[in-house]
Amino acid sequence: MSFNKKTIKDIDLHGKTVLIRADYNVPLKDGKITDDYRIKQSLPTVKYLLAQHAKLVICSHLGRPDGKPNPEFSLFPVAKRLKELLEHDVEFATDCIGERVRKTVEGMKDGDIVLLENLRFHAEEEANDAGFAKELASLADVFVQDGFGVVHRAHASTEGVTHFLPSVAGLLLEREVDTITKVMEEPQRPLMAIIGGAKIADKIEILHRFIDIADFVAIGGAMANTFLVAEGIDVAASLYDKDELSVAKDIMTKAAAKAKKQPFVFALPRDGVVASKIDRVAPTRLVDWSTHVVADIENYPKRPPAATSQIHSHEMILDIGPFSASFIAGAIQLSGTVVWNGAVGVTETKSLRDPVGPTAHGTELIVEAMLGKLGHRPFSLVGGGDTVGFVEERGLVASFDHVSTGGGASLELMSGRKLPGVEALENKE
Ligand code: 3PG
Ligand code: MG
Repeated sequence: MSFNKKTIKDIDLHGKTVLIRADYNVPLKDGKITDDYRIKQSLPTVKYLLAQHAKLVICSHLGRPDGKPNPEFSLFPVAKRLKELLEHDVEFATDCIGERVRKTVEGMKDGDIVLLENLRFHAEEEANDAGFAKELASLADVFVQDGFGVVHRAHASTEGVTHFLPSVAGLLLEREVDTITKVMEEPQRPLMAIIGGAKIADKIEILHRFIDIADFVAIGGAMANTFLVAEGIDVAASLYDKDELSVAKDIMTKAAAKAKKQPFVFALPRDGVVASKIDRVAPTRLVDWSTHVVADIENYPKRPPAATSQIHSHEMILDIGPFSASFIAGAIQLSGTVVWNGAVGVTETKSLRDPVGPTAHGTELIVEAMLGKLGHRPFSLVGGGDTVGFVEERGLVASFDHVSTGGGASLELMSGRKLPGVEALENKE
């Protein structure tokens, strides 16, 4: 099913004052934006509206300031970055509602842009307060939802505001929902899902959905450790989730039942890179938790030491090993579509010389395979959140078919949930 909501292309916006909800929740370090992917992805809608000679009032949240003004979470750096990227003036308003904002907006000319201060400086935003939504709405003639990353929240600026203004989708929202929905509903098969990250809790629904619809599901990251423990493997000092062992067991049972009935693979890591610290100078080694994939080769000149099959008590699994990574890379070569959400190892640790960190090689091989470096190139969909950080840092965002700007929102959409910020928009006739 294709996107059935009206977009900015379906209505006349000429000279109108348009309230745009963006997701400019970007990471900041010492007041500087460390990843501007979300801002860049908002540009097509902004440029389209400028070409319509509209007046653009843009609003967003940043972080979780808990309903109080806090300079640490100001959108001011975003206004600066937006101005640079657009090469167009962007006025910054120091609040998102109130008399001063109203005056500023009243003084706008066609083609002017105002970015409002963080919506979450008011507790009414997350409470989806109708009075607050009405006040926001009173600034404009039309509401445009383009903040895909936040449409899984029913807040004043995503759901509430749509009760007071004609409300349509922006181009980013349309592309995100369209692409992700198509991949889930009519993928080029075989469909493969690679799910990593730290916590199973965030990914339970998506795992169930992929076991239902995919041909191959590979697990990595700290999340995989919980499955390994559920299988009876000693993961020593590795991070894992004690409270989710039964969830992991249920998922494995479901996967095994599917594999009995039809060709289906549910792959857990069979080897890993371990170290006793998360540190770029900590020595790493390979372990295969007695699955004998590392070096159990009879005629090899040197027998592998027994330690290669056991994780020592002080060690943690920090990446999938080369056997597991190659197995996944091989499956990618046979896939029509790959959905990837979550790194399979600790990718934040930088190496001294190597562009790839000591525990990022598993993720790196997966990325190379997805991008066709091994020959075949499947359609690639990358889920948002931390995964994007790694891909951005490696300068590879533009190389994938689609890199989502949404973390939670893309997971919920993939899981088959309705997104309140999308549902609230007007349907196409
Ligand atoms: C995100 O980055 O996940 C979105 O911007 C939503 O933010 P939230 O999780 O704080 O609601
Ligand atoms: Mg979030």
